[in-house]
Amino acid sequence: MKNVILSLDIGTSGCKVLLMDADCHVRTSCVTEYPLYTPEIGWTEQKPEDWWDASCRGIRKVLSDRPDVKIVGIGLSGQMHGMVALDGDRRVVRPAILWNDQRTASQCEEILSLAGGIEGLTSYTNNNMLTGFTAGKILWMKENEPERYQKTEKIVNPKDYIAFQLTDVLSTDVSDASGTGLFDVKNNRFNTDLIALCGLKPDFFAEVRDSSAVIGTVTEKAAALTGIPVGTPVCAGGGDAVLSTVAMGVGDDRTLAVMLGTSGVVSLHTDRFLPNTDGAVQFSRACLPGLYHIMGVTLAAAGSYQWLAQAENTADFRNMDELAAAAKPGSDGLLFLPYLSGERCPVNDPKARGAFIGITSSHTQGDFNRAVLEGVAFSLRQVYEKVRPHDRYRRMILAGGGSKSPLWRQIFADVFGLTVV
Ligand code: XUL
Repeated sequence: MKNVILSLDIGTSGCKVLLMDADCHVRTSCVTEYPLYTPEIGWTEQKPEDWWDASCRGIRKVLSDRPDVKIVGIGLSGQMHGMVALDGDRRVVRPAILWNDQRTASQCEEILSLAGGIEGLTSYTNNNMLTGFTAGKILWMKENEPERYQKTEKIVNPKDYIAFQLTDVLSTDVSDASGTGLFDVKNNRFNTDLIALCGLKPDFFAEVRDSSAVIGTVTEKAAALTGIPVGTPVCAGGGDAVLSTVAMGVGDDRTLAVMLGTSGVVSLHTDRFLPNTDGAVQFSRACLPGLYHIMGVTLAAAGSYQWLAQAENTADFRNMDELAAAAKPGSDGLLFLPYLSGERCPVNDPKARGAFIGITSSHTQGDFNRAVLEGVAFSLRQVYEKVRPHDRYRRMILAGGGSKSPLWRQIFADVFGLTVV
């Protein structure tokens, strides 16, 4: 029997499950999808029960693919910031409000002003209060759904809910805790002063562990639902955007990680606590002990190209790239701003909107395609200007669906002036 690790990622479109051996070979994997609910424009929600149901189905599938393996541990990753509210019996109180939900602009402003503006707020957490973060969502529930708020006893993030289903232990990890907006990153604990200022219950939050800490073992109930042996150890895991920097192999301080998924993330590790007094970046504890993680997010990255494909009524990205490659670098003066879902960094504005600028009658479809690829790369370059603590970066590791495009990889190399791996 080969020893393997089972890992679960609670993503926004689905749950990814894989079995990996000690040599980091993936033995098998699968994706099980679940719905995304958008009850109003700018709102995004999912049912935690759907995540667990999809996780169980995915786990059973990979175990039936590979009956010849022994699971020695479970790792977890997940979409960050989502608010999972649980009652006294640890039942879900309402659908989770997700990382890309934009309903909390006024709650974020309220918290910012309670904390005494950006300098006051960053002195508590070393972070700005972004609409994506968990804190504004809790305040929104308090103000708009008081009955549900009253019922709530604990608040965790998406992968923590799955860890709880597996182990009956409620905890979170340093990276997801940092992404609530209420965590004192410097001192590695929830900031009870800020929580009190916001008028929230201090015991809402679960115990915070390092990402690699074993938080518990698989219960009999979870074993019956998934097929994983009782007693298998489960690690705390981490928020996807923070954990993926480790997964991309970024350990030194000369390499940058750029994740070109629906959203685009520029991230890096540093061993120094760096004050983020203007709140421009997301500063958190890293999933590797002793390190900090800095990142900035362009909300619609490959998502912008997907939107354009839909608008052009095609799913043939290779053909879109061929047209773009035939256009001149600079798209003949056509500019694209990718703020299709509002923006986070360096423009922190949920009401920001996308734009094509400088259209003339000579522009072709290829120019439009190229302008989107370039606009996203320049937006992430602007993020890079904000997140980098020094100028000595040499290369970037580009990952995510968008990195499959050779043209886009070249555009990133040109726009950043770095080697792209
Ligand atoms: C990170 C963030 C996104 C989600 C996507 O701050 O909001 O990367 O975690 O899954």
